[in-house]
Amino acid sequence: MCGIIAYAGHRPAVPLLIDGLRRLEYRGYDSAGVAFIQQRKIHCLKASGRLSALERTVSSFRMPLLASSGIGHTRWATHGEPNEANAHPHLSNDGGFALAHNGIIENYREIKSRLAGLGYVFYSDTDTEPLVNLIAEERKKTPDNLSAFRNALLRVDGAFALSLICLDEPEAVYAARKDAPLVVGAGTEENFIASDVTAFLPYTRNVIFLEEGEIARVTPSARAVFDLRTLEPVSRHVRKIDWDISSAQKGGYKHFMLKEIFEQPAVLRNVLAGRINPGGGKVELPELEKLPRPARIRIVACGTSYNAGLWAAPLLEQWGGIPCAVEIASEFRYRKPILGKDELVILISQSGETADTLAALKIAGASKAATLGLCNVIGSSIARGADRVVYTQAGPEISVASTKALCSQMALLAVLALHFGLRAKTFPVEKAKEELARFSQLADLLEGHLPLLRREVEPIALRAANAKNIFFLGRGQNYALAQEGALKFKELSYVHAEAYAAGEMKHGPIALVDRDFLTIALAPRDEHLPKMISNIQEVAARGGPIIMLGQPGGETTPESAQFWSIPECPPPFAGFVILPMLQLLSYEAARYLGKDVDQPRNLAKSVTVE
Ligand code: G6P
Repeated sequence: MCGIIAYAGHRPAVPLLIDGLRRLEYRGYDSAGVAFIQQRKIHCLKASGRLSALERTVSSFRMPLLASSGIGHTRWATHGEPNEANAHPHLSNDGGFALAHNGIIENYREIKSRLAGLGYVFYSDTDTEPLVNLIAEERKKTPDNLSAFRNALLRVDGAFALSLICLDEPEAVYAARKDAPLVVGAGTEENFIASDVTAFLPYTRNVIFLEEGEIARVTPSARAVFDLRTLEPVSRHVRKIDWDISSAQKGGYKHFMLKEIFEQPAVLRNVLAGRINPGGGKVELPELEKLPRPARIRIVACGTSYNAGLWAAPLLEQWGGIPCAVEIASEFRYRKPILGKDELVILISQSGETADTLAALKIAGASKAATLGLCNVIGSSIARGADRVVYTQAGPEISVASTKALCSQMALLAVLALHFGLRAKTFPVEKAKEELARFSQLADLLEGHLPLLRREVEPIALRAANAKNIFFLGRGQNYALAQEGALKFKELSYVHAEAYAAGEMKHGPIALVDRDFLTIALAPRDEHLPKMISNIQEVAARGGPIIMLGQPGGETTPESAQFWSIPECPPPFAGFVILPMLQLLSYEAARYLGKDVDQPRNLAKSVTVE
């Protein structure tokens, strides 16, 4: 995820900003930049690649670096390639403002074309450059920078954490946040703004966490926070934090995995931002413009990304109206698959670098079928090699065990299913409105329930951690989630866990059931529930211990089962709540067993060799 550091104080700003960016490196980035004011001019120095490239650019700057305020940014590309032009900060055409941005401006195309009509020129593909020019445009009509900043932000849809410098106020730095974190560091005769406290931790531990919809203005000697809408001053207490660098990088969470599990509501907002319009019953996927409707879809992926495909295939069929098959990339690449020219092959890969998935792309690319990459990392090999790419915008995932990337893949595939169904007019607009309204409420629902689920999971995880063998059972899309539950559980805790389609139990696996073989059944209230309950009864009848993830109404079936309540949410969206329950279950079990949660043995985040 992009990183922001800004400074207003008494020290040389540029080295301090680069130092701060270095502490934000762990977030992942592909380019970086700083902006500062010197000799009545805003200078933006940027470079693609590592911070060492930025340092080279800075060291060749023709003047001594005297500025004692400025902004810095590490970019993790979401709009446009990771190159120098797209790196932040972005400068307004009049040279009066420089802006660094984390998040996504959903209506940037609209803003861009309006400003282009006024003569503005754009040098990057980003959603940020239109915004800095909008601020400059608003400044023409307002007496001060604070109002101009606010007025521009009121015209913006989307998520942002912003830092801004203004040529006519060289000592001040402005910041604003909506749906992306930002924190003010309160020093003595110096103040900081950053996307997380890690960036300024060596200088101060006194912080003000900005709340949603707030603007801050800092100078070396003053800090002020305002309500973004009214510009009324807001009183905010300075808190002292006692985090060390490592816990600060994890946002105060014990592990990256836990942080990433808790980031899923934000990930859902990111994925859906600008892509769904519940009121109009529409979805927007400009990346797929002119793609003819495929007769068949083939999803190819590995690991957790494969489970995203398994989960989404029924939706692509039921909502999209297109037959869909899902394959493991390492099998697909060697079995000489027959691909038709009316077929779409979707390669799902968080990293975009997995060797087997890349090889599958090559095979599909050599056929007449169309290829579509669903990747998280911009500019990755699969993203570059596929005919088309849709980015999942989950932000960098640091924990080896994939969590939030899967959430983003599932959400994007659901949007894709609606896209196909609506485009072919096989999915009614009225029904799309209903589904999209539910979809848009999901992030809030999940955010509200995650802390409780975290508390509830402990006794359940303890029980699972003490098992020698576990079956994860489900039907329909819950079978895909059972696969993911078993995968997560074994990779983190090293306890043997297998997923089965619940209906398959009677064809062999049930022979294993006894008092020591734990079954975790995914049984939300959906069309499969009656059959799931029969399967659960069959396990109970053989003395098998059961943990049942269910919704109110199913609590008593069977009595011996330990019940864990899935927050109320209709199918298929219940999947987005069951998923973090399973992730938390594995996380807590591994933690209890003392395993290395973020780096399980024998596993790699990105498997670039066969
Ligand atoms: C590795 C990772 C998994 C991931 C899989 C596929 O095995 O440990 O978490 O699901 O690769 O990775 P991809 O980047 O292609 O999604």
